[in-house]
This record gives sequence, C-alpha cells and structure tokens, in this order.
Amino acid sequence: MSQQNPYNGQNPNEILDRKNAEAMLGGGQNRIDAQHKRGKLTARERIELLLDEGSFEEIGRFVMHRTKDFGLDKQHYLGDSVVTGYGTVSGRLIYVFSQDFTVFGGSLSEAHAEKVCKLMDLAMKNGAPIIGLNDSGGARIQEGVVSLAGYADIFYRNTRASGVIPQLSAIMGPCAGGAVYSPAITDFIMMVENTSYMFVTGPNVVKTVTHEEVTSEELGGASAHSTKSGVAHFSCANEVQCIEDLKKLLSYIPQNCEEIAPVYPYEAKDDELRPALNTIVPDGANKPYDMREVIEATIDEDSFLEVHKNYAENILVGFGRIGGRSIGIVGNQPSNLAGCLNIDASKKAARFVRFCDAFNIPLLVLVDVPGFLPGTDQEWNGVINDGAKLLYAFSEATVPRITVITRKAYGGAYDVMNSKHIGADMNFAYPNAEIAVMGAKGAAEIIFKNEIKASENPAEKLKEKEDEYNEKFANPYRAAHRGYIDEVILPEQTRQKLLRAFKMLENKVDSLPRKKHGNLPL
Ligand code: HXC
Repeated sequence: MSQQNPYNGQNPNEILDRKNAEAMLGGGQNRIDAQHKRGKLTARERIELLLDEGSFEEIGRFVMHRTKDFGLDKQHYLGDSVVTGYGTVSGRLIYVFSQDFTVFGGSLSEAHAEKVCKLMDLAMKNGAPIIGLNDSGGARIQEGVVSLAGYADIFYRNTRASGVIPQLSAIMGPCAGGAVYSPAITDFIMMVENTSYMFVTGPNVVKTVTHEEVTSEELGGASAHSTKSGVAHFSCANEVQCIEDLKKLLSYIPQNCEEIAPVYPYEAKDDELRPALNTIVPDGANKPYDMREVIEATIDEDSFLEVHKNYAENILVGFGRIGGRSIGIVGNQPSNLAGCLNIDASKKAARFVRFCDAFNIPLLVLVDVPGFLPGTDQEWNGVINDGAKLLYAFSEATVPRITVITRKAYGGAYDVMNSKHIGADMNFAYPNAEIAVMGAKGAAEIIFKNEIKASENPAEKLKEKEDEYNEKFANPYRAAHRGYIDEVILPEQTRQKLLRAFKMLENKVDSLPRKKHGNLPL
C-alpha cells in the first residue's frame, strides 16, 4: 500500500530549513532594522553575546500564539515574542530567555509565558541560574486576561525559585506595568542607560494623576533606578557592557543553593602582609576615607565587583575573592554621611546579605559606623523596621561571617554590623577601634551633665570628661577582654587573618531552628 506524503510533495528537510530561517527573522527584517536604529540588539544577538560560542540550544523555536481576536489569526511569528533555551557561560550551564521586541513589541502572550515557565521549571529541576533579557511592551493587549495569567504564572515561579537558583534580570528596553514584578523578585537587576526603563505607571498616567511632567528616562531609566529607587543593582553604559556585567556577576555565584561558587586559581600566601592598609584609616576619628581602599588592599587583586554602587552610598556592598574564593563584602563608607546607617543603607545591605546567605557565599563585614542617622525623615519613614531588616539578615545568616572593625562601632549599629552577639564567627578590630555606646562628647554631655553645669569652666570640664570617656572606651580592649573581639590586629595583617579564618570556616555547618519561615520585618 503506498503511503501518502504528508508534506504535499515538499522535501521535509527543506520545510525545516525554511521554518528555521523564518524563526531567525523574528518580526521581520524591517523591525530588526528598526531595533538596530534604536541602538538596541535583537533578542538573538543578545543571547549570542551572553553564551559561550556555539553553546546555545533553543527550546520552543516554533511555538506560536493562539489568539484569533483583533486580526491576530493572520499574524503569526515562529517562536512568538521570546527566544528561550540553554547554553553555557564560561562552561557553566545557564538558562536564558530573551524577549523579542520585533514581535508584537516583545509583549507577553500566553505562548510567551508558557515558554518562559517551561524554562524556569527546567532551571529549577536542574539547578542552574536563569537569566531574563527583558525588552517588552508588557501584556499582549489583544489577549487580555490570558496574558495577565501568564505573568502571574511567571511571578509564582520567580518566587518559588527565589533562594534555590540565582535569577538575574537585564532590562534592555521597556519593562512597564505589572511586568516589572518579575525582575523585581529576581536577585539582581541590570539596566542599560538611555534605552531601558521600568515603571509601574508611565509618564502619561503620572501626568493625569499627579500632574507631574516627567520623561520615561527620568521616571524609570537606569539612572533613576540605580541612584534614587535602588531597584537596579547595576547601571550599564550599553548592552554589550550589560552582558559583560552579567557574565562577571555569574562568576561570583554558585549554580544553586546546594553548591558553592566557582573557585578561581589564585596564588595566596596566608602569611601575606599588606602594609598599604596601615595608612588608609586616618588617625582622627572623624576624618573621612574611602572603605573601597581597605577592600581593594585586602582582597585578591581586581576582584571587587561593587553592587548598587550609586545607591545608598553610605554603605558598600559587593562581591570579591579571597584566595580565589567568592565572598560577599559589606562595609560602612565613612566618606558618605560619615558611614551612618539609614533606611536605604539598611535595606541595601540586608538584601545583599540574604542573597549571599541563600547561595553559600561567606561574608566579610568592615565596620566604621557612628550609628543610625537621626531625624524625623528617618523615623517617620520607618528606620526602626529597616534597621531591623539588616539585624535580622545578619542574625539568620548561617554562612561563614567575619567582621573587621576598622575604627568606630557605636551604639545599636555596633550590634547590627555582624557583631559576635548575632552570630559572627570571627571578629577582629584594629588597635585604634572605638567600641562604645556613643562618641565621647555625646556620652560626656549626658553622664556628666550636672558636673559640667556646676563647673566654673564648663568647656574645660566637658573636655576633661570627654578625654576620660575616650580613655576608657575609645579602644577595642573592653570588647576584647570579654571575647566580643577575638583578636586585635594590625591593619597590615588583615588579609593574612582573613585568609586563615575563612579557610578555618570553610566547612562550617549551622542551621536555623525548624520553622516554616521567619517573619522578616518588611
Ligand atoms: C501588543 C504591542 C504591545 C502590547 C507594543 N506592541 N506593545 N502589541 N501588546 N502590549 C506592538 C506595537 O503595536 C507595534 O506593532 C510594536 O509592538 C512596536 O511598538 P511601537 O509602539 O511601534 O514601539 P515604540 O514606539 O518603541 O513604543 C514601545 C512601547 C509602546 C512604549 C512599549 O509600544 C507601548 O506603549 N506599548 C503598550 C504598552 C502597554 O500599555 N502595555 C500594557 C501594560 S499593562 P507593529 O506591528 O507596529 O510593529 C501590563 C500589565 C501586566 O503590562 C500586568 C502583569 C500583572
């Protein structure tokens, strides 16, 4: 019996070739050209830049939307508005979805959402990071609630995957409305300057409701989110830089919550002194300096990757390596607001600490903090809650944790900044460290108020009492006598001590009491 050719006499391989070629063009050459004219790469070009050459395997290249309304039954594009698949970055498995603006403006259809969800499920089951390259006009307007459902399916998976696999988002075009909440749940957001924006409601709605005139860039561009809102962790000059930054970030983080980050070969002698450290922290207690210099003189050369560089600059957070191993670094920044903790700094550091803890990245905490920033603005906006977030984040972290007090550690901020009392494993202090409830002047004014008032020369008396308080408390020894400080070290010894201590803590096992989950003060 002769079999009928199901391809109407066409060569099946040629059909496949044709379909593949069609899919490569997304929304067509004209729209690709328009994308390039906007200074943007296409979804596929971005994937090519991100992954190791030739490693990309696409999933769902021929998926199409199923909508018939508003003439969509006549407009089909293979793959619909997102390219999904897996590949490697520096040899490590990565899942990636890249929204294709050339197809219905990258808008999210039911099919688009299904492709992303399928990828997220694979990433979860196989324990590898997922990267989203976002460039989308939001919900596919012609699909209505089906598109909203698709978003929710993604949000749900983002949440379930949080803390299990790293999730990274790069915003390379529009990302508006409820669509912003997927990247917001992921671990890190990169934004490309001048060509990307994120907002819940755009400039037109803003104008109608609040009468504010604002451009998309002003409202939700890379600059706004990396300096004002803190939504973006990295602001990148262009797409190529953005993808380079993604790859760099990946190098510090493990594949999933059960693994450790890759270890890079590094010649590290654990008796190595770094004399440059002896002169970075100034003698005067109130002189500013840049904590970055302490970080850079301590960790492996050129290994510092600062996160949230231009947001809440009174605290520094970022990744580095010591002896080739990844660490997360949190440091007060005395050159900004004297290194005070405030709402933004507490939130910034708390989120970073929780990421590191979730993904087995040991923490180094550098302390020079005069306390929490006073004022009605801080109090009325909830510094109590936000300061508590940082305290909570450190307290629940089970990764190896080491603190170095480089100068001041005053008041509640001393407790919060990874003190021994909240579970730090090793606490070091420099010889000039001051660990006290508050600065000497403030302390003397309170406890010797009457004596100073009664004195013939109050200014002189205040100075005398200030000196007395300084002598008693402006040093690390009270804390060291009690074992709150494990060792007082010379600055030049910092690297040596950290190399040894992190090595000693390499196999640390600690766990939290059994619970469903804690109740972080949100
Ligand atoms: C369907 C869309 C679309 C969308 C854009 N397009 N957004 N199609 N649904 N959401 C299509 C356009 O019709 C156009 O098709 C192509 O994509 C490119 O769009 P342009 O407008 O030509 O591009 P540009 O001038 O660069 O403007 C981009 C844009 C604009 C700013 C994103 O398209 C826009 O404002 N789109 C609508 C945004 C929006 O309101 N989305 C819904 C948000 S609410 P052709 O065929 O001409 O190439 C939302 C809720 C999510 O997302 C809730 C989750 C809980």
